[in-house]
Amino acid sequence: MLKINNLHASVEDKSILKGINLEIKAGEVHAIMGPNGSGKSTLASVVAGKEEYEVTDGTILLEGEDIEELAAEERAHKGIFLSFQYPVEIPGVSVTNFMKTAINANRKAKGLEDMPANEMLKLIREKSEMLEIDRKFLSRSLNEGFSGGEKKRNEIFQMAMLEPKLAILDETDSGLDIDALRIVANGVNKLKSKDNAVLVITHYQRLLDYIVPDFVHVLYNGKIVKSGGKELAHELEEKGYDWIKEEVNA
Ligand SMILES: Nc1ncnc2c1ncn2[C@@H]1O[C@H](COP(=O)(O)OP(=O)(O)OP(=O)(O)O)[C@@H](O)[C@H]1O
Ligand SMILES: [Mg+2]
Repeated sequence: MLKINNLHASVEDKSILKGINLEIKAGEVHAIMGPNGSGKSTLASVVAGKEEYEVTDGTILLEGEDIEELAAEERAHKGIFLSFQYPVEIPGVSVTNFMKTAINANRKAKGLEDMPANEMLKLIREKSEMLEIDRKFLSRSLNEGFSGGEKKRNEIFQMAMLEPKLAILDETDSGLDIDALRIVANGVNKLKSKDNAVLVITHYQRLLDYIVPDFVHVLYNGKIVKSGGKELAHELEEKGYDWIKEEVNA
């Protein structure tokens, strides 16, 4: 699905990613953990194709295709979904309308007509029921006055609607309460299939009790310095990152 080779990236001439190697196969869930400032969100942004980041070396292959030259929007159309670490507010645009626009833009990129209104309604109903989202919420202005948990719920709704091949969830920003954690986890678990893959960036071992990862990677100073199974997340929770830093610096 996703294959990252020797990826180096910088922002404003500052080198942030310093040789990332990562392969995510279809059907797998990977988690990335690591200290603040280690480059986790940068990695997510670079894979999603955000412009402010410059790839200085290495390759990113999505299903064997080099996506380096593709704009963020094109990558999204190819099935890469990045949750917003800081979601934007769009007054006057409802959750539903935003979603309709996104879905139809996706279809257009594939040469398809707009989704018929009744089909769209059915899809919205199905996915919102699955995620226990109520009607009132769907008609609210996008992210305007949303609580942290509501933002999460909306994000997961977007993911469920778009059914991405690779979903990247950057959960570092907010203090998610137990409910929000469950929302994120339920959404991901329901979306999971043998044909897609999920990359979760998190500081919370707790989240990984709900979304059980196949692999856990530790990013430190722009490199993946340790990989393991889900037990690695428990070890980090218990021991912190110092032992890893010591290993790396030894
Ligand atoms: N757009 C940007 N402009 C300037 N510096 C940036 C930018 N994006 C990232 N950086 C810098 O790159 C480094 C890595 O940041 P990044 O956000 O990837 O860390 P992180 O691992 O996600 O941290 P956290 O756990 O706090 O979310 C930091 O030093 C940060 O200041
Ligand atoms: Mg981050």
